[in-house]
Amino acid sequence: MVEQVDVSSRASQIEYAIRDVVIPAIELESQGHEIIKLNIGDPLAYEGLPTPNHMIDAFKKALDNQDNGYSPSYGISDLRQAIGENETQKGWICSSDDVYVTHGVTEALQIIFAAFLQEGDIVLAPGPHYPPYMAYPQMYGATTMEYRLNSSDSWKIDLEDINSKMNSNVRLLVIINPNNPTGNVATKEEIDALIKIADDWPKCTIVADEIYDGLDFTGNLVSVASRSQKTPVIVLNGVSKVYFAPGWRVGYMAIHDPNKSLKLVRDGMERLLRSRLCASTPAQYGFLAGLTADKKWLGKHRLVIKERLDYCLKRISQIDGIECESPGAAFYLFVKITKSKFSKDDKKFVLDLLHKKHVLVVHGSGFSPEFGSGHFRMVCLPPIEILNIVFDRISDFLK
Ligand SMILES: Cc1ncc(COP(=O)(O)O)c(C=O)c1O
Repeated sequence: MVEQVDVSSRASQIEYAIRDVVIPAIELESQGHEIIKLNIGDPLAYEGLPTPNHMIDAFKKALDNQDNGYSPSYGISDLRQAIGENETQKGWICSSDDVYVTHGVTEALQIIFAAFLQEGDIVLAPGPHYPPYMAYPQMYGATTMEYRLNSSDSWKIDLEDINSKMNSNVRLLVIINPNNPTGNVATKEEIDALIKIADDWPKCTIVADEIYDGLDFTGNLVSVASRSQKTPVIVLNGVSKVYFAPGWRVGYMAIHDPNKSLKLVRDGMERLLRSRLCASTPAQYGFLAGLTADKKWLGKHRLVIKERLDYCLKRISQIDGIECESPGAAFYLFVKITKSKFSKDDKKFVLDLLHKKHVLVVHGSGFSPEFGSGHFRMVCLPPIEILNIVFDRISDFLK
C-alpha cells in the first residue's frame, strides 16, 4: 500500500456545495445520461443571456493591441476611475484610490479575510449565504457565525439575531444584498438598522456583497456604503452577474472608510494584492467598456430573467410538496421542501432527484446547515421550454 501524503486540515474542510454536487452528475453523464443543470449561477450556460458585444469587442481589442502584459496590482487606472464614478453614482464618494480590482469577488474575499482575520475572530454572515463566506475564514483560524434570515418573512434580516451575536471578536459583518440564495433585497430601513448595530463595535467592518445589484426587481435596492457615516464598508461587485461575464474573473472591492480606521488593514490588503501580481489585463478592458457604455441592453436581459423567474414561481405554486418565497432580485429560487418524507434530508432529496430525474439542483443545507436545510436552490436561467421539463420531472418525482 502506498502511504498517502497528508492534506492540510484547511483544505480538507473546504466545501462548496454548488460545485460539489457536480461530481455525481458527471458520473451520470459518463454513463450517457443528459443532466439538466440548475446548480450554478452562470447565465452563459443557457440561451438568451449573452455577454454584451461591446464588452467582447473591447476584450478582443485589448488582445489585438498586445495589452497582454501584467497590469498594475490594484487595477488599470481607467477602470479604477470608472468603478469609482459608478459607485459614486450609487450615493457615496468613491475615488479611484478606494478601488482595488481583483480576480472576481471571490479573490477579493480571500484578500479581505487574509487581511482582517486572526485566530479567534468571527465573521458574522447571513444564513443562508453564498458558501465561501463559511469556507474561507477558517483558513485563518477564524469562524463564521450565521445570523438568521427569516424564512417565514421573505428571508428578511433578523436584526435582533445580529444584535445578540455581536461582540468584540466580530471583525466582519457581511450583508449579501441582493442575497444569494434567497433573492431577498434589504430595505433602506433594514440597512440603516444593521449599520446602527455595527456602529457600536469599533473593530467591526461591514462587507457588502452587491454583485446582483443590477438585477433588483423591487426598486428598493440601496448601496450599503451610501448609508454608513461611521462604520467602514467594503463594497464588492464585478462582471460576473450584472455584466454577464462570469468566466472573465474580474471584480473589485471598493473601500468606504468615513473615519479612516482601516489604514493598517488597507496596507495589508495592498501588500497581498501586490504579491498576487494583478487581475487579467484584457478582461479589465472588457469590464471598462461595460461600465462606460450605455446600459440599455441590460433592460432586455432583465426582462428575460424576470419572465423565467415568474414562470418558475407559477409552476412551483402548482406542485404539491414544494413552495417558494418570491425573490425580489437575482436569478435563484430557494425552494422549501414541504413534503416531510423529503424535507428531513435535503441532500438526499437532491441526489435522488439527480439520479431518478436527471435534474441537478443544490441542497439548501449547503448554504447553511442551520437556516437552509429543508430547501434546495435552483437557478431560473434556462429557457422556458427547459424549465417546463424540469418542473414536470420535479412534480413526477414528488409523486
Ligand atoms: C453573493 C455572491 N458573491 C460573489 C460571487 C462570485 O463572484 P465572482 O464571480 O466575482 O467571484 C457569487 C457567485 O455566485 C455570489 O453569489
